[in-house]
Amino acid sequence: MSATGLDVRHFTHADLPEVRQTLIDVHADALADEMDDPFNQRFPWFVDHWGGHPEFSCVIAFEGDKAVGFAYGAPGSPGREWWRDYLDPAPEKSRTFSYSELAVSPKWRKKGVAERLTRTLMEKRDEDLVVLLVDPEHPRVQALYESWGFRKVGERQPFPDSPVYAVMLAELPLK
Ligand SMILES: CC(C)(COP(=O)(O)OP(=O)(O)OC[C@H]1O[C@@H](n2cnc3c(N)ncnc32)[C@H](O)[C@@H]1OP(=O)(O)O)[C@@H](O)C(=O)NCCC(=O)NCCS
Repeated sequence: MSATGLDVRHFTHADLPEVRQTLIDVHADALADEMDDPFNQRFPWFVDHWGGHPEFSCVIAFEGDKAVGFAYGAPGSPGREWWRDYLDPAPEKSRTFSYSELAVSPKWRKKGVAERLTRTLMEKRDEDLVVLLVDPEHPRVQALYESWGFRKVGERQPFPDSPVYAVMLAELPLK
């Protein structure tokens, strides 16, 4: 089955209790090879942090009842966009959606699920820009984001135990 055969559903902050464990389970499946990393083990904390945002926006792809991938984020605070450090001058249109997480179960890779999730999540946004962080040691993932219109604008290490990430920015709507 291709990505188009999946049922992609949208969830909000109010749905967090319903989807929290689903997100944790899909993440553990998608990152099974990397779950010895303490940073990845802190994922439930991140779900609660992002899901606690009143404008949390999440999409989950289902094959029947089974969740096989998800994408989520939340808008940043207008005027306080942290990516401004990387762009001089900053663009005038600067309302930004922070794209926090994307994961697809291994069985469902290479079928366009990540793109479908990303585009479905972004179609619902009315911000000017979207920002995300990606581990530059995963250049194939970075290339995936580039294929959807993101470009690297700098590097950032948000937590002492996190990787030094590439900061990637794209204009909305995605091309
Ligand atoms: C990123 C992801 C959603 C993309 O799914 P997809 O569109 O089906 O694409 P693929 O799985 O084929 O991944 C694209 C490429 O990135 C590579 N890649 C994916 N996740 C990777 C990871 N965690 N580390 C290193 N490389 C990774 C794949 O090997 C693939 O490389 P290839 O084209 O040379 O075969 C999926 O691979 C995934 O869930 N990965 C684990 C979680 C993750 O890394 N999320 C991104 C956080 S920024």
